[in-house]
Amino acid sequence: MFNKKLITDIDVKSQKALVRVDFNVPIKDGKVEDDTRIVAALPTIRYLLDQGAAVILCSHLGRPKEGPDPKYSMRPTAEHLSKLLGRPVAFCEESVGPVAESAAKALKPGEVLVLENTRFYKGETKNDPEMSRQLASLADVYVNDAFGSAHRAHSSTEGVARLLPGVAGFLMEKEIKYLGAAIADPKRPFIAILGGAKIVDKIGVIRNLLQIADAILIGGGMANTFFAAQGYPMGDSLVDADALDTAREILQGAGNRLRLPVDVVIADSFDDSASRQVMDVGPVPEGWRIMDIGPETIAAYAKVVNGAGTVVWNGPMGVFEMPNFAVGTFGVAKAVAESDAVSIVGGGDSVSAINRSGLSDKITHISTGGGASLEMLEGLTLPGVAALQDK
Ligand code: 3PG
Repeated sequence: MFNKKLITDIDVKSQKALVRVDFNVPIKDGKVEDDTRIVAALPTIRYLLDQGAAVILCSHLGRPKEGPDPKYSMRPTAEHLSKLLGRPVAFCEESVGPVAESAAKALKPGEVLVLENTRFYKGETKNDPEMSRQLASLADVYVNDAFGSAHRAHSSTEGVARLLPGVAGFLMEKEIKYLGAAIADPKRPFIAILGGAKIVDKIGVIRNLLQIADAILIGGGMANTFFAAQGYPMGDSLVDADALDTAREILQGAGNRLRLPVDVVIADSFDDSASRQVMDVGPVPEGWRIMDIGPETIAAYAKVVNGAGTVVWNGPMGVFEMPNFAVGTFGVAKAVAESDAVSIVGGGDSVSAINRSGLSDKITHISTGGGASLEMLEGLTLPGVAALQDK
């Protein structure tokens, strides 16, 4: 089903390979805090090195607005990668330009170079043809292994792929294989669990999954907007006032495939030490706000997940960063991990909940993509994948 050329389909010996990775990782005090995305790109990097390619890595990090900013430098990722590979990794303070060109030119087979943040250049996010041309001039072939950025049509993810022979890396292939199969041919019942604060981020996903999934279980702040659309006063809860009509329309068309929480945990302030209560879904008292799904909902959702053939989960069930309101998210994490279903988890908070539960080895596939995995669930074509060569 993945019909794009892979690195194994071309000869990379003695070639300069420009590899787009997603090293958009958390950095603290100049150190990589979570290296999941870097580790996930290692099979592709190692393969290319073993085949005798010279490997030039590029990525964005964060969303720098005003050009170069040391806070968003790729340098810590180069240092971290060097430790993981157990070999030197060179770093270049440019992504494109004369310094990058001579660094790329001097790179020998079996050597690795990390370029500076592609978003330090305005051309990157504009998919500027000149930026794409400059990137392409550094290499002979282009490899996209940045699944997490494949929903962006930027110079380093899309433009450059059209100027060099462009193929997919192993991580890209794996991600598309699991998420693509869940959408195209899921083992049934196919259950989607969607959470997170805002309904607007997931309207497209809900609409598409209502055509495909057997049930969608809703949690997190986005459930409040559905409750408000049903006419309940929501107290101080987070509600997406602009999305009420859309929520109503979705509820009308969804029938019983869209499942909402039956009980919730409310608090009298947005604080982990706030007073809290469990209540059945209904009018939220003034001065109180919904912070998590309740125990009956956790049990009901766990039962559905337990009987599933495929489960896809994206987004926390409550204010997961506060331990007292993380119970729903951890309860769902446990249910997904314990189910015999093909399980796919994407999105920062849900992945973090799975990792913190120590249950990650029980999940079939943990996606390195947040936005990219959502766009796949929405049924959209990812520009970074579309631009690669067909098999
Ligand atoms: C992500 O973290 O989801 C990707 O790296 C994409 O980042 P972006 O949303 O800033 O484009």
